[in-house]
Amino acid sequence: MSNIQSVLSENRVFPVNPEFTKQANIKSEQEYQQMVADASNNYSGYWANLARQYIDWKAPFSKSLNDSNPPFYTWFEDGKLNVSYNCLDRHVANNPHKTAIIFESDAGHIETVTYKELLTKVSRFANGLKSLGIVKGDRVIIYMPNSIEAIVAMQACARIGAIHSVVFGGFSAKAIHERIHDAQAKLVITSDAQKRGGKIFPLNQDVKEALSLPGCESVEKVVIHRRTGEKVEWDNKRDIWWHDVIKNQSDECEPEWVEAEHPLFILYTSGSTGTPKGVQHASGGYLLGAITTMKWVFDIKDDDIYWSTADVGWITGHTYLCYGPLAVGATQIVFEGIPTFPAADRFWRMIETHKVTIFYTAPTAIRALIKLGGDLPNNFDLSSLRLLGSVGEPINPEAWMWYYETIGKSKCPIVDTWWQTETGSHILAPIPGITALTPGSCTRSIPGIFVDIVDEAGNLVTDNNGGYLVIKKPFPSQIRTIWNNPERFIKAYYPEDIANGKYYVAGDSASRDTMGYYHILGRIDDVLNVSGHRLGTMEIESALVAHPGVAEAAVVGRPHDIKGESIVAFVVCKGQLPTGSEKDFLINELREWVAKEIGALAKPDEIRFGENLPKTRSGKIMRRLLRSLAKGEAITQDISTLENPHILDQLK
Ligand code: WTA
Repeated sequence: MSNIQSVLSENRVFPVNPEFTKQANIKSEQEYQQMVADASNNYSGYWANLARQYIDWKAPFSKSLNDSNPPFYTWFEDGKLNVSYNCLDRHVANNPHKTAIIFESDAGHIETVTYKELLTKVSRFANGLKSLGIVKGDRVIIYMPNSIEAIVAMQACARIGAIHSVVFGGFSAKAIHERIHDAQAKLVITSDAQKRGGKIFPLNQDVKEALSLPGCESVEKVVIHRRTGEKVEWDNKRDIWWHDVIKNQSDECEPEWVEAEHPLFILYTSGSTGTPKGVQHASGGYLLGAITTMKWVFDIKDDDIYWSTADVGWITGHTYLCYGPLAVGATQIVFEGIPTFPAADRFWRMIETHKVTIFYTAPTAIRALIKLGGDLPNNFDLSSLRLLGSVGEPINPEAWMWYYETIGKSKCPIVDTWWQTETGSHILAPIPGITALTPGSCTRSIPGIFVDIVDEAGNLVTDNNGGYLVIKKPFPSQIRTIWNNPERFIKAYYPEDIANGKYYVAGDSASRDTMGYYHILGRIDDVLNVSGHRLGTMEIESALVAHPGVAEAAVVGRPHDIKGESIVAFVVCKGQLPTGSEKDFLINELREWVAKEIGALAKPDEIRFGENLPKTRSGKIMRRLLRSLAKGEAITQDISTLENPHILDQLK
């Protein structure tokens, strides 16, 4: 609540830097308003024009939006294209020796590839994939660290029309298994291990473990990239080295020209119920969202050195690392490591070394770095920076101010970008040459995206009152469906009980201030945002309940200074209430258990035991009470429907 209060009482406004405006891609409010007007007057035509302008099509499209079967919207459906062609070949034709990627490893080694070299790598690996029998439409799991090879693997899939599904390296064998099974993947691409913060984390071993569980019979081969040289437990029938896959392959690979709606990838993300959802994105519309926002929000130019610190395992690592920067022909940094290794000045050092001009990171990293050394940036020359970005969670005004003053020297606009795995690209964000900034607000919508705040009945909510954040019209880069589960897609994003299922419901609540700026208040569902990572409370509860000693569990979020939210679990054991050393042992064991079931990122920060959970007479767990207990607040809510009030004392 304190966060909400401080956001709502925020009234500082930082005007646009006129120097920035002079060189910006969008230079005036009139230009922005004209775009909005064009989109209002001819929505389908507005996006069609942009798609023709920014994408190279093999076969032109004649239809823009097809809304004949809501909410299954399609865009540019009779056009044909290839995303990898748009990211590589067309730049190689103009400027082959331009640097595409500057890779910096955890240990600080630097490797640079030009667009021509990257195209060669992608083509050879794509040919290698074909030699393994991978064809258009096959699903490929990628479980790799941030690296040139991870991008090559993703781009190679796009080149041959295979559908990749990247699994974040922090997820467990169980999580890989779940995704392989749901996607019925034919191939897994991984590395022997990954290096982060000087430590080695095995990856291939997790893949092995996942494949040993029933339900992965679809997987024919595992391609292993040698990254650290760790010993690999070899399976003769299934495993093949990356370097053997590309051996003797041609440097050229004709792209597979796919329909605009052909799925480019599936990315699993947490929802409020059940297992993670396979968010399916389409090739054409997704690419368009990536390109337009690179130009409008990041104001990308030919001579920029762009750096997004995101991991390829998340949507930001897809849109603003693998696809967006390459689609616009930018030079970008790809970083393998973590912000605190070898010291908490790593980011600032890298900005100085590489003369980074655009820097995009998450509030959780900013807060952690302030705590570890708020003055450290002053030891470095950060004058190359011209634009800063924030993503993943609300940025609190104090962190915003530090970012603005200490990193941006009060001259760099901050683009606070609100979007989701499902939206594919930015939805709410300042346009840096024209939008005055307010700390903690992601300001207004991208021109051509129609966002609003409504109540259950679909009525508009105005003037600082919170409501459901919705997107009123379908847009090119949006989720097409949940892989293999269209009913779940409708239920999750076009629920009947909010505005009669007319609008895309984001799952966030938001308010709009008197300037018309949006303030995100947080999730309305049981989804946690821990260090910018999305986790479902249900998933963690299921993991806990799978432990043989656990009868029941409920998980809630508690505000945390650095992580945004931390995870608090209330657990009912089978048998007696654990005490003393037995209790400590069990806490440890359950935390490790969750790490094994989901990944270390889902480990509860705190576990409390009780003989029961607070429930209503009908047996419903009263989560709002648990949230108060987790925060250590006195219970002031109405507890007249609570069946077992004495339990509150136990869970305090
Ligand atoms: C939250 C990450 C406030 C939000 C790109 C959303 C944000 C969820 C912001 C999506 C922001 C993301 N301000 N909240 N700038 N950006 N969120 O799918 O709750 O991992 O629904 O996509 O993160 O998380 P996801």
